[in-house]
Formats: sequence, C-alpha cells, structure tokens
Amino acid sequence: MRKALPDRPSVLLVISGGIAAYKALDLIRRLRDRGLGVRALMTKGAQEFVTPLAVGALTGGKVFTDLFDREDEQDVGHIRLARENDLVVVAPATADIMAKMAGGHADDLATAVLLATQSPVLIAPAMNPAMWAHPATQRNVATLSADGVNFVGPARGEMAEAGEAGVGRMAEPLDIVSAVLDVIGPHQHATRLAGRRVLITSGPTLEAVDPVRYIANRSSGKQGHAIAAAAAAEGALVTLVSGPVGIPDPPGVTVIHVESARDMLAAVEAALPADVAVMAAAVADWRPAKPSRGKIKKDGTGKVEPLQLVENPDILASIGRHHTLRPTLVIGFAAETADLVRNAKVKLKAKGADWILANDVSEGSGVMGGDDNTVSVVSAAGVEAWPKMTKADVAARLVERIAAALPRRREAAE
Ligand code: CTP
Repeated sequence: MRKALPDRPSVLLVISGGIAAYKALDLIRRLRDRGLGVRALMTKGAQEFVTPLAVGALTGGKVFTDLFDREDEQDVGHIRLARENDLVVVAPATADIMAKMAGGHADDLATAVLLATQSPVLIAPAMNPAMWAHPATQRNVATLSADGVNFVGPARGEMAEAGEAGVGRMAEPLDIVSAVLDVIGPHQHATRLAGRRVLITSGPTLEAVDPVRYIANRSSGKQGHAIAAAAAAEGALVTLVSGPVGIPDPPGVTVIHVESARDMLAAVEAALPADVAVMAAAVADWRPAKPSRGKIKKDGTGKVEPLQLVENPDILASIGRHHTLRPTLVIGFAAETADLVRNAKVKLKAKGADWILANDVSEGSGVMGGDDNTVSVVSAAGVEAWPKMTKADVAARLVERIAAALPRRREAAE
C-alpha cells in the first residue's frame, strides 16, 4: 500500500543526466510554488550537470543519490522513497533511463525506485532529436505508455548542441507543472483552475519624459493583483505583469515587474501561451516621443517646450487579436467616466476581447486606489451589472466565471 501523505501532495523528482538537468532547479521552485512537497533523487549522470547541494537548497531536504548508501537506506530506504509520494516525475528523462525503465532494470537508486513505485509516473524526455526519433527509443516510449507512464513533451526547438533543432527539447518547467497537476489534480489538488495558465496585467505604466520625470495613469494595482491572487488560489499557474505599484507581490504567482507600456507588451507576449488573459493594467495611452537622456532644465524665461506624445501599443488588442497564440478567454477592463456600457461594447469589439469589465472611475466613485469596485460585465451575451463589492470579491467572482467558461479538460478522474 502506498502511504498517502495527509497534508499536501508530494512529488518525488528523479533527475537524470542530461543538459536539461539545470531546468530541474526551476521546476522544483515552481512545484513548491504550487504548494507541492518535493523530494529529489539524482542519478550519477545528473550530478555531472547540477550538484546535489543546489538541488537540496531548493527542495529544502536531503537529495538521494545512492542505492547502496547505508545511511540513506537506514534513514528512508529505496522502497519507502518509492512509496512516500503521490507522483514520481522524471525530468529530464534521458534515452538511457527510459530504456532502463522499459526494460525493468533496477541497477541504481533511480531505476530501483521507478520499478518499486506504485504511484503514477510522469516523464519529461530530453535528448538529441536523432536519439528521440530512433526506433529503439520509440519502442521504449510505446512500452512505457502501455505500462501507464504519462509523458510531457518533448518539445520542438533548438538543442543545446549548436545549430541543431528538432523534437527532443525538454518541456518547459511550467508545462511540466501543468502536467503534474493534471495527473494528481483531480484527486489531490481539486481546485477549479488547476494547471491553467492565466496571464494578468496590473498597475500603471510609467512613460519617461527624462531620467527624473514621467507621465502615468492613476492605478493602485489592487484589482489586478487581487485577480492574480484569486486565480492562484484556484490552482492556476499565474504570470502577473505589473507596472510600479506600492502593494506586495501576491503569493504563489510569478511576477514580472515592468515600467513602460512597451516593456509590458514585451513581457506579456513572452508569457504566452496562456489559457486566459486578464488585462487589468491602466496602460498609459501615450508616451513622450523623444524622452530626453539628460534632465530637462528650466531656462528661466517661463517658456515651456510642449511635450510631443506618440500613442503606445494597445496590449489588450494585441492579445485579443493575436494570430497564433490568442488565449481561449481574453478579458479587459474599461475605465470610463461616462456612457459606461456603450463605451465598453465599443472596446469589446475594437480589442477582440471576450469580456470587458466596465467600471465607473469618475471622481467620487472611489474606485481609483480604493478597496471597492462596481463593475458591469459586457460580453457578446449581454450586460451583467454586479453590485458594489470589494476588489477581492470582484476577483473571486471573476475567477469563478472564468473556471465555468473554460472548456472542460480531459477528465483524469475516470
Ligand atoms: N489597454 C491596453 N493597452 C493600452 C490601453 C489599454 O492593454 N495601451 C487595456 C486596459 O488594460 C484595459 C482596456 O485596454 O483592459 C481598456 O482600457 P481603457 O483605459 O479603459 O481604455 P483605452 O483603450 O485606453 O481607451 P480610452 O482611454 O480612449 O477610453
């Protein structure tokens, strides 16, 4: 019987010897961000690429390396190691370890544990495209699939070897986390956005006039950050691209700090693909055409040079009309001081969004910088006016709507 860990789901990460082993460090951090416990086991080959010290610093525990280590065996033992987890992940999985798994070998700690485990196994292959395409590897993939092993990747892309490209690159850590939540999610981590990638913008953007001055929009970031926190609490993999704000980063969220609208657009595009985009930032519509390298000085005559402005890119429209990577659900806001719903409908169409959350930001509404918000959700289906509530409640309700609107994933609960 496999011992169920009562407090939180736990993953045994087997790191085998490939250049992608360095990505295992990021993977550990991201798994722990999702609230999962991580124990690591390294093959001899893996230790040529990253050290057990580095891996242990990230797991916060002992790293297992040797089948015949007396201390390890007395301490935990390979059979307990194989059983005391909810999932075994092999990342990177080399062609060699896959061959050993397919053949039922058990001549080192990693293969012994993989043979002894009764937990689900997920592997992230990483190898040269020729090795991946080789009939022997493909036979092993078929055998392992038939044995019930789950796969994530490999992806197509450039290899570590200069100039080589093809299928064989290890899946990105975020995709592996997504696959992990897919496998254990329905049983252990039943949250409504488990494994979904949600991309959020928040806060203002600042557009430099010179090294000391800028133009910006008024925005506290409270609403966007609350949505990021609510999505993460539902198990989503959240990337929050935030302009400068005075509030802390939400927990369990990958935060990218930017300053200008152009930087925000670049960060948003780099964070694709995503299942959902919520563009809550108050992006400055214009920027100074020629920001000055040096501080602009007053000339003492009282004359002021007019500031030439150019329009900034529209981030929501770029995502809503993205040719290849448009998220399934694209959500924007409309900050209005008049004709709320009419203007929101125009923005919905113009920016290719699925929903627009329209809010009245006129003076006296208290929305800018405040803790409450009154929104109307405008979509092709019509207009739904929500009562005044806290920004945290708006976030929770929006996340609920998002979870209900996304197409259901393959049911892993069978
Ligand atoms: N937005 C954006 N990039 C811009 C401007 C706006 O992504 N350069 C997004 C905002 O994050 C919001 C939506 O577009 O989700 C609407 O923003 P809003 O400020 O209400 O409207 P604008 O498009 O700026 O139009 P206007 O200022 O004329 O009302």
